[in-house]
Amino acid sequence: MSADLETIELDLITAIGSAETVADLEAVRVASLGKQGTISGLLKGLGAMSDEERRVMGPRLNGLRDRVNAAIASRRAALEDAQLQAQLARERIDLSLPPRPRRQGSVHPTMQVMDEMIAIFAEMGFAVAEGPDIEDDFHNFTALNFPPGHPAREMHDTFFLTPDPQTGERKVLRTHTSPVQVRTMRVGNEKPPASWIAAGQEPPIRIIAPGRTFRCDSDATHTPMFHQIEGLVIDRDIHMGHLKWTLETFIARFFEMDAVRARFRPHHFPFTEPSAEMDILCDRSGGTLRLNEGDSWMEILGCGMVHPNVLRNCGLDPDQWQGFAFGMGVDRLAMLKYGIPDLRPMFEADVRWLSHYGFSAHAVPNPASGLS
Ligand code: PHE
Repeated sequence: MSADLETIELDLITAIGSAETVADLEAVRVASLGKQGTISGLLKGLGAMSDEERRVMGPRLNGLRDRVNAAIASRRAALEDAQLQAQLARERIDLSLPPRPRRQGSVHPTMQVMDEMIAIFAEMGFAVAEGPDIEDDFHNFTALNFPPGHPAREMHDTFFLTPDPQTGERKVLRTHTSPVQVRTMRVGNEKPPASWIAAGQEPPIRIIAPGRTFRCDSDATHTPMFHQIEGLVIDRDIHMGHLKWTLETFIARFFEMDAVRARFRPHHFPFTEPSAEMDILCDRSGGTLRLNEGDSWMEILGCGMVHPNVLRNCGLDPDQWQGFAFGMGVDRLAMLKYGIPDLRPMFEADVRWLSHYGFSAHAVPNPASGLS
Protein backbone atom coordinates (compact mmCIF):
# COMPACT_ATOMS: atom_id res chain seq x y z
CA MET A 1 0.00 0.00 0.00
CA SER A 2 2.70 2.48 0.96
CA ALA A 3 4.73 1.61 -2.13
CA ASP A 4 1.55 2.15 -4.13
CA LEU A 5 1.04 5.56 -2.55
CA GLU A 6 4.58 6.59 -3.36
CA THR A 7 4.11 5.48 -6.98
CA ILE A 8 0.82 7.36 -7.19
CA GLU A 9 2.43 10.50 -5.75
CA LEU A 10 5.44 10.26 -8.02
CA ASP A 11 3.26 9.77 -11.11
CA LEU A 12 1.03 12.69 -10.16
CA ILE A 13 3.89 15.07 -9.40
CA THR A 14 5.49 14.11 -12.74
CA ALA A 15 2.20 14.66 -14.60
CA ILE A 16 1.70 18.03 -12.88
CA GLY A 17 5.23 19.14 -13.68
CA SER A 18 4.89 18.21 -17.33
CA ALA A 19 1.42 19.79 -17.84
CA GLU A 20 1.96 22.35 -20.62
CA THR A 21 -1.36 24.14 -20.35
CA VAL A 22 -3.89 25.02 -17.67
CA ALA A 23 -6.27 22.58 -19.39
CA ASP A 24 -3.74 19.68 -19.10
CA LEU A 25 -3.25 20.54 -15.46
CA GLU A 26 -6.97 20.61 -14.83
CA ALA A 27 -7.24 17.11 -16.32
CA VAL A 28 -4.64 15.85 -13.83
CA ARG A 29 -6.51 17.55 -10.99
CA VAL A 30 -9.83 15.97 -11.95
CA ALA A 31 -8.22 12.53 -12.33
CA SER A 32 -6.70 12.69 -8.82
CA LEU A 33 -8.68 15.06 -6.63
CA GLY A 34 -11.99 15.22 -8.54
CA LYS A 35 -15.06 13.33 -7.28
CA GLN A 36 -14.04 10.18 -9.14
CA GLY A 37 -10.31 10.84 -8.72
CA THR A 38 -7.74 8.37 -7.42
CA ILE A 39 -6.93 10.23 -4.21
CA SER A 40 -10.60 10.93 -3.52
CA GLY A 41 -11.27 7.21 -3.96
CA LEU A 42 -8.55 6.35 -1.47
CA LEU A 43 -9.90 8.88 1.03
CA LYS A 44 -13.36 7.37 0.71
CA GLY A 45 -11.86 3.99 1.58
CA LEU A 46 -10.84 5.30 5.04
CA GLY A 47 -14.37 4.80 6.34
CA ALA A 48 -14.18 1.02 5.82
CA MET A 49 -10.85 0.71 7.72
CA SER A 50 -10.26 -0.33 11.28
CA ASP A 51 -9.40 2.45 13.73
CA GLU A 52 -5.83 1.37 13.81
CA GLU A 53 -5.46 1.31 10.05
CA ARG A 54 -7.18 4.67 9.76
CA ARG A 55 -4.79 6.24 12.27
CA VAL A 56 -1.89 5.33 10.00
CA MET A 57 -3.53 5.82 6.62
CA GLY A 58 -5.51 8.99 7.47
CA PRO A 59 -2.49 11.28 7.89
CA ARG A 60 -0.69 9.66 4.95
CA LEU A 61 -3.57 10.14 2.59
CA ASN A 62 -4.26 13.67 3.80
CA GLY A 63 -0.58 14.48 3.41
CA LEU A 64 -0.65 13.07 -0.12
CA ARG A 65 -3.74 15.11 -0.98
CA ASP A 66 -2.21 18.31 0.43
CA ARG A 67 1.09 17.87 -1.45
CA VAL A 68 -0.68 17.16 -4.73
CA ASN A 69 -2.93 20.16 -4.16
CA ALA A 70 0.07 22.38 -3.47
CA ALA A 71 1.93 21.08 -6.54
CA ILE A 72 -1.12 21.80 -8.74
CA ALA A 73 -1.51 25.31 -7.31
CA SER A 74 2.11 26.21 -7.91
CA ARG A 75 2.10 24.72 -11.43
CA ARG A 76 -1.11 26.61 -12.20
CA ALA A 77 0.45 29.88 -11.05
CA ALA A 78 3.50 29.25 -13.26
CA LEU A 79 1.36 28.36 -16.28
CA GLU A 80 -0.91 31.39 -15.84
CA ASP A 81 2.05 33.67 -15.53
CA ALA A 82 3.60 32.25 -18.71
CA GLN A 83 0.24 32.61 -20.47
CA LEU A 84 0.00 36.27 -19.43
CA GLN A 85 3.56 36.97 -20.54
CA ALA A 86 2.84 35.38 -23.94
CA GLN A 87 -0.34 37.43 -24.34
CA LEU A 88 1.47 40.64 -23.39
CA ALA A 89 4.19 39.88 -25.90
CA ARG A 90 1.58 39.11 -28.58
CA GLU A 91 -0.43 42.26 -27.99
CA ARG A 92 2.50 44.58 -27.60
CA ILE A 93 2.21 47.87 -29.51
CA ASP A 94 5.33 49.90 -29.97
CA LEU A 95 4.06 53.44 -29.58
CA SER A 96 7.47 54.81 -30.44
CA LEU A 97 7.07 53.71 -34.08
CA PRO A 98 6.36 56.67 -36.40
CA PRO A 99 3.01 56.53 -38.27
CA ARG A 100 3.29 54.93 -41.67
CA PRO A 101 4.01 57.68 -44.18
CA ARG A 102 1.60 56.33 -46.77
CA ARG A 103 -1.22 56.72 -44.27
CA GLN A 104 -0.59 60.44 -43.86
CA GLY A 105 -3.40 62.63 -45.15
CA SER A 106 -2.75 65.60 -47.39
CA VAL A 107 -4.51 68.74 -48.51
CA HIS A 108 -6.19 68.53 -51.91
CA PRO A 109 -4.68 70.95 -54.46
CA THR A 110 -8.06 72.68 -54.90
CA MET A 111 -8.27 73.37 -51.17
CA GLN A 112 -4.62 74.42 -51.06
CA VAL A 113 -5.22 76.91 -53.86
CA MET A 114 -8.44 78.09 -52.20
CA ASP A 115 -6.45 78.82 -49.02
CA GLU A 116 -3.79 80.62 -51.05
CA MET A 117 -6.42 82.78 -52.75
CA ILE A 118 -8.13 83.60 -49.46
CA ALA A 119 -4.77 84.56 -47.95
CA ILE A 120 -4.02 86.95 -50.81
CA PHE A 121 -7.47 88.55 -50.84
CA ALA A 122 -7.57 88.80 -47.04
CA GLU A 123 -4.38 90.81 -47.18
CA MET A 124 -6.03 93.08 -49.74
CA GLY A 125 -8.91 93.72 -47.33
CA PHE A 126 -11.52 91.20 -48.50
CA ALA A 127 -13.71 89.24 -46.09
CA VAL A 128 -14.97 85.74 -46.83
CA ALA A 129 -18.70 85.26 -47.48
CA GLU A 130 -20.58 82.05 -48.15
CA GLY A 131 -23.93 80.93 -49.47
CA PRO A 132 -25.79 77.64 -49.84
CA ASP A 133 -25.06 75.06 -52.54
CA ILE A 134 -28.80 74.60 -53.13
CA GLU A 135 -30.09 77.92 -54.40
CA ASP A 136 -33.42 79.28 -55.50
CA ASP A 137 -34.06 80.63 -58.95
CA PHE A 138 -34.18 84.18 -57.64
CA HIS A 139 -30.62 84.26 -56.27
CA ASN A 140 -29.02 82.13 -58.95
CA PHE A 141 -30.69 83.85 -61.92
CA THR A 142 -33.44 86.45 -61.50
CA ALA A 143 -31.69 88.87 -59.16
CA LEU A 144 -28.60 88.56 -61.35
CA ASN A 145 -30.54 90.00 -64.28
CA PHE A 146 -31.18 86.79 -66.18
CA PRO A 147 -34.58 87.56 -67.77
CA PRO A 148 -37.23 84.81 -67.31
CA GLY A 149 -36.99 82.26 -70.11
CA HIS A 150 -33.73 83.80 -71.32
CA PRO A 151 -31.43 81.28 -73.02
CA ALA A 152 -28.64 82.27 -70.64
CA ARG A 153 -30.38 80.12 -68.02
CA GLU A 154 -30.00 77.11 -70.30
CA MET A 155 -26.42 78.15 -71.06
CA HIS A 156 -25.50 77.17 -67.53
CA ASP A 157 -26.58 73.49 -67.90
CA THR A 158 -28.43 73.81 -64.64
CA PHE A 159 -29.18 70.89 -62.32
CA PHE A 160 -32.81 71.42 -61.28
CA LEU A 161 -34.25 69.79 -58.16
CA THR A 162 -37.73 68.24 -58.10
CA PRO A 163 -40.29 71.07 -57.81
CA ASP A 164 -41.95 71.62 -54.44
CA PRO A 165 -45.40 69.94 -54.70
CA GLN A 166 -47.02 72.84 -52.79
CA THR A 167 -45.46 75.90 -54.38
CA GLY A 168 -44.12 74.44 -57.62
CA GLU A 169 -40.81 76.15 -56.80
CA ARG A 170 -37.85 74.50 -58.45
CA LYS A 171 -34.56 74.87 -56.58
CA VAL A 172 -31.23 74.52 -58.37
CA LEU A 173 -27.70 73.47 -57.51
CA ARG A 174 -26.01 76.83 -57.87
CA THR A 175 -24.36 77.14 -61.26
CA HIS A 176 -21.92 79.80 -60.06
CA THR A 177 -20.92 81.61 -56.86
CA SER A 178 -22.53 84.87 -58.08
CA PRO A 179 -25.71 84.33 -55.96
CA VAL A 180 -23.49 85.12 -52.95
CA GLN A 181 -23.18 88.65 -54.40
CA VAL A 182 -26.94 88.97 -54.12
CA ARG A 183 -27.08 87.52 -50.61
CA THR A 184 -24.33 89.87 -49.47
CA MET A 185 -25.91 93.01 -50.93
CA ARG A 186 -29.52 92.38 -49.95
CA VAL A 187 -29.10 93.78 -46.45
CA GLY A 188 -32.30 93.73 -44.43
CA ASN A 189 -34.16 91.65 -47.01
CA GLU A 190 -32.65 88.36 -45.93
CA LYS A 191 -31.69 86.83 -42.67
CA PRO A 192 -28.59 84.78 -43.37
CA PRO A 193 -27.84 81.80 -41.09
CA ALA A 194 -25.08 82.50 -38.59
CA SER A 195 -22.84 80.01 -40.40
CA TRP A 196 -22.28 82.43 -43.25
CA ILE A 197 -19.16 84.21 -42.33
CA ALA A 198 -19.82 87.65 -43.75
CA ALA A 199 -23.12 87.63 -45.57
CA GLY A 200 -25.34 90.68 -45.48
CA GLN A 201 -23.60 93.98 -45.03
CA GLU A 202 -23.97 97.66 -45.87
CA PRO A 203 -21.65 99.07 -48.51
CA PRO A 204 -18.77 99.51 -48.73
CA ILE A 205 -18.52 95.81 -49.45
CA ARG A 206 -15.37 93.86 -50.18
CA ILE A 207 -15.95 90.14 -50.13
CA ILE A 208 -14.81 86.94 -51.77
CA ALA A 209 -17.04 83.88 -51.87
CA PRO A 210 -15.30 80.54 -52.34
CA GLY A 211 -17.38 77.43 -52.87
CA ARG A 212 -18.72 74.54 -54.88
CA THR A 213 -20.65 75.05 -58.09
CA PHE A 214 -22.51 72.59 -60.29
CA ARG A 215 -23.26 72.25 -63.99
CA CYS A 216 -24.62 69.29 -65.90
CA ASP A 217 -21.48 68.91 -67.96
CA SER A 218 -18.88 66.17 -68.01
CA ASP A 219 -15.97 65.73 -70.40
CA ALA A 220 -12.17 65.98 -70.37
CA THR A 221 -12.25 69.63 -69.31
CA HIS A 222 -15.53 69.80 -67.34
CA THR A 223 -16.78 68.07 -64.21
CA PRO A 224 -20.35 68.32 -62.87
CA MET A 225 -18.99 69.78 -59.61
CA PHE A 226 -16.21 72.34 -59.57
CA HIS A 227 -15.08 75.26 -57.43
CA GLN A 228 -15.23 78.99 -57.94
CA ILE A 229 -14.15 82.07 -56.08
CA GLU A 230 -16.39 85.07 -56.51
CA GLY A 231 -15.30 88.60 -55.73
CA LEU A 232 -17.47 91.65 -55.09
CA VAL A 233 -16.52 95.24 -54.33
CA ILE A 234 -19.20 97.90 -53.82
CA ASP A 235 -18.36 101.48 -52.94
CA ARG A 236 -18.72 105.00 -54.31
CA ASP A 237 -16.83 105.83 -57.51
CA ILE A 238 -15.59 102.31 -58.20
CA HIS A 239 -14.49 101.87 -61.82
CA MET A 240 -12.81 99.43 -64.21
CA GLY A 241 -9.37 100.70 -63.11
CA HIS A 242 -9.95 99.27 -59.63
CA LEU A 243 -11.07 96.00 -61.15
CA LYS A 244 -8.03 95.75 -63.38
CA TRP A 245 -5.54 96.57 -60.63
CA THR A 246 -7.14 94.15 -58.16
CA LEU A 247 -7.11 91.23 -60.59
CA GLU A 248 -3.64 91.86 -62.01
CA THR A 249 -2.21 92.20 -58.51
CA PHE A 250 -4.00 89.07 -57.37
CA ILE A 251 -2.87 86.97 -60.33
CA ALA A 252 0.77 88.06 -59.99
CA ARG A 253 0.77 87.16 -56.28
CA PHE A 254 -1.01 83.92 -56.95
CA PHE A 255 1.59 82.77 -59.47
CA GLU A 256 4.34 84.27 -57.27
CA MET A 257 5.65 86.54 -60.00
CA ASP A 258 6.43 90.26 -60.05
CA ALA A 259 3.84 90.94 -62.73
CA VAL A 260 1.76 89.00 -65.23
CA ARG A 261 0.93 90.04 -68.77
CA ALA A 262 -2.85 90.09 -68.90
CA ARG A 263 -5.50 91.38 -71.26
CA PHE A 264 -9.18 92.13 -70.75
CA ARG A 265 -11.32 90.92 -73.63
CA PRO A 266 -14.93 92.17 -73.97
CA HIS A 267 -17.49 89.53 -73.09
CA HIS A 268 -21.09 89.22 -71.94
CA PHE A 269 -22.62 88.33 -68.58
CA PRO A 270 -26.18 89.36 -67.70
CA PHE A 271 -25.06 90.63 -64.28
CA THR A 272 -22.16 92.87 -65.32
CA GLU A 273 -21.89 95.78 -67.72
CA PRO A 274 -19.38 96.18 -69.21
CA SER A 275 -18.20 92.58 -68.91
CA ALA A 276 -14.83 91.10 -69.73
CA GLU A 277 -12.81 87.94 -69.60
CA MET A 278 -9.24 88.14 -68.38
CA ASP A 279 -6.59 86.26 -70.34
CA ILE A 280 -2.98 85.76 -69.36
CA LEU A 281 -0.08 85.42 -71.77
CA CYS A 282 1.48 82.00 -72.09
CA ASP A 283 3.67 79.84 -74.26
CA ARG A 284 2.19 76.45 -75.04
CA SER A 285 4.91 75.26 -77.46
CA GLY A 286 7.01 72.21 -76.66
CA GLY A 287 4.35 70.41 -74.62
CA THR A 288 4.84 72.59 -71.55
CA LEU A 289 3.07 75.71 -70.44
CA ARG A 290 5.04 78.79 -69.47
CA LEU A 291 3.33 81.92 -68.19
CA ASN A 292 4.32 85.42 -69.29
CA GLU A 293 6.00 84.07 -72.44
CA GLY A 294 5.05 83.24 -76.01
CA ASP A 295 2.04 84.50 -77.88
CA SER A 296 -0.96 82.47 -76.67
CA TRP A 297 -3.66 83.84 -74.41
CA MET A 298 -5.41 81.74 -71.83
CA GLU A 299 -8.76 82.69 -70.33
CA ILE A 300 -8.75 82.52 -66.55
CA LEU A 301 -11.74 84.47 -65.24
CA GLY A 302 -14.89 86.46 -65.92
CA CYS A 303 -15.48 89.93 -64.52
CA GLY A 304 -17.16 93.27 -64.99
CA MET A 305 -18.89 96.23 -63.40
CA VAL A 306 -21.96 95.17 -61.41
CA HIS A 307 -25.03 95.76 -63.62
CA PRO A 308 -27.33 98.58 -62.35
CA ASN A 309 -30.27 96.14 -62.45
CA VAL A 310 -28.45 93.83 -60.04
CA LEU A 311 -27.79 96.73 -57.66
CA ARG A 312 -31.48 97.68 -57.87
CA ASN A 313 -32.59 94.07 -57.30
CA CYS A 314 -30.51 94.12 -54.13
CA GLY A 315 -31.95 97.42 -52.91
CA LEU A 316 -28.94 99.58 -53.76
CA ASP A 317 -29.22 102.85 -55.71
CA PRO A 318 -26.94 102.66 -58.79
CA ASP A 319 -26.52 106.42 -58.72
CA GLN A 320 -24.94 106.13 -55.27
CA TRP A 321 -23.10 102.84 -55.44
CA GLN A 322 -21.02 101.12 -58.07
CA GLY A 323 -18.89 98.07 -57.96
CA PHE A 324 -17.12 95.30 -59.74
CA ALA A 325 -17.37 91.56 -59.55
CA PHE A 326 -15.34 88.62 -60.77
CA GLY A 327 -15.54 84.87 -60.74
CA MET A 328 -12.86 82.29 -61.42
CA GLY A 329 -12.51 78.53 -61.53
CA VAL A 330 -10.35 77.37 -58.64
CA ASP A 331 -9.67 73.84 -59.93
CA ARG A 332 -8.36 75.10 -63.25
CA LEU A 333 -6.07 77.59 -61.55
CA ALA A 334 -4.82 74.80 -59.27
CA MET A 335 -3.99 72.70 -62.33
CA LEU A 336 -2.20 75.61 -63.95
CA LYS A 337 -0.15 76.52 -60.90
CA TYR A 338 0.83 72.99 -59.92
CA GLY A 339 1.19 71.40 -63.34
CA ILE A 340 -1.73 68.98 -63.03
CA PRO A 341 -2.46 67.82 -66.58
CA ASP A 342 -5.88 66.25 -66.20
CA LEU A 343 -9.05 67.62 -64.57
CA ARG A 344 -11.06 64.51 -63.90
CA PRO A 345 -8.71 62.69 -61.47
CA MET A 346 -9.04 65.78 -59.25
CA PHE A 347 -12.42 64.37 -58.10
CA GLU A 348 -11.82 60.62 -58.23
CA ALA A 349 -10.37 60.36 -54.70
CA ASP A 350 -7.58 58.02 -55.81
CA VAL A 351 -5.13 57.94 -52.89
CA ARG A 352 -2.15 57.58 -55.24
CA TRP A 353 -3.15 60.79 -57.01
CA LEU A 354 -3.81 62.54 -53.71
CA SER A 355 -0.50 61.56 -52.19
CA HIS A 356 1.31 62.70 -55.34
CA TYR A 357 -0.39 66.08 -55.72
CA GLY A 358 -1.47 66.73 -52.13
CA PHE A 359 0.03 69.33 -49.79
CA SER A 360 1.17 69.09 -46.20
CA ALA A 361 -1.58 69.91 -43.75
CA HIS A 362 0.99 71.72 -41.62
CA ALA A 363 1.86 74.35 -44.22
CA VAL A 364 -1.16 76.64 -44.21
CA PRO A 365 -0.59 79.36 -46.82
CA ASN A 366 -0.22 82.86 -45.53
CA PRO A 367 1.38 85.91 -47.07
CA ALA A 368 4.03 86.15 -44.35
CA SER A 369 5.55 82.68 -44.62
CA GLY A 370 4.83 82.18 -48.32
CA LEU A 371 2.02 80.61 -50.25
CA SER A 372 3.25 77.25 -51.44
N1 PHE B 1 -20.51 83.86 -62.69
C1 PHE B 1 -19.69 83.88 -63.87
C2 PHE B 1 -19.47 82.45 -64.35
O1 PHE B 1 -19.66 81.54 -63.60
C3 PHE B 1 -18.35 84.54 -63.62
C4 PHE B 1 -18.48 85.99 -63.28
C5 PHE B 1 -18.58 86.39 -61.96
C6 PHE B 1 -18.48 86.95 -64.27
C7 PHE B 1 -18.69 87.75 -61.67
C8 PHE B 1 -18.58 88.30 -63.99
C9 PHE B 1 -18.68 88.67 -62.66
O2 PHE B 1 -19.10 82.22 -65.46
